[in-house]
Amino acid sequence: MYAGAVAEQTQDLRAADRDDAYCTLASTVESVLAGVRDRYTAMATFAALLHHGFGHLWTGFYVVAGPALLRVGPYQGTLGCLEIAFGRGVCGTAAERRQTVVVGDVHAFPGHISCDSRARSEIVVPILDRRGGLVAVLDIDSAEPARFDARDAAGLERLVGWFARADLLPVNVESPAVNPLP
Ligand code: SME
Repeated sequence: MYAGAVAEQTQDLRAADRDDAYCTLASTVESVLAGVRDRYTAMATFAALLHHGFGHLWTGFYVVAGPALLRVGPYQGTLGCLEIAFGRGVCGTAAERRQTVVVGDVHAFPGHISCDSRARSEIVVPILDRRGGLVAVLDIDSAEPARFDARDAAGLERLVGWFARADLLPVNVESPAVNPLP
């Protein structure tokens, strides 16, 4: 992608029909990430496009860093917590279940990990590689209550199907938790 054309690829999708917005993003992702095999490059690109496209509060990835540990990856937004154990919070729940979790009211979700007091609702989508292994979760937080629904779950699941189609390069070896965090 020629650098001069990159900013125009970050479209404002806030006024668009939700399904149309995800279709638009899918074709942007396909063209921007054509030939890319580095998962972090892809995650950073997804985070930028989704965050600025929809005006979310926090958009990013928690990457599988051990048998039951997520560690923060590329994101857009205020400081995110560094590590989350499987089964903890919304991210850890989605990772453990390997299922998308939509939370309309984060205050009603038992064990929700609050990194930003403005967060009201959230969606977390598992990222699988081409072998079906869990690579990461995509976490999106909104300041709006009940911002996410089945259209977002379907649109995002289709979008992150990119990781299952890409021939991702291997990454560094496992490393233990820095802190015994939630
Ligand atoms: N809300 C998340 C924690 C991550 S941050 O909000 C960035 C959770 O409960 O999993």
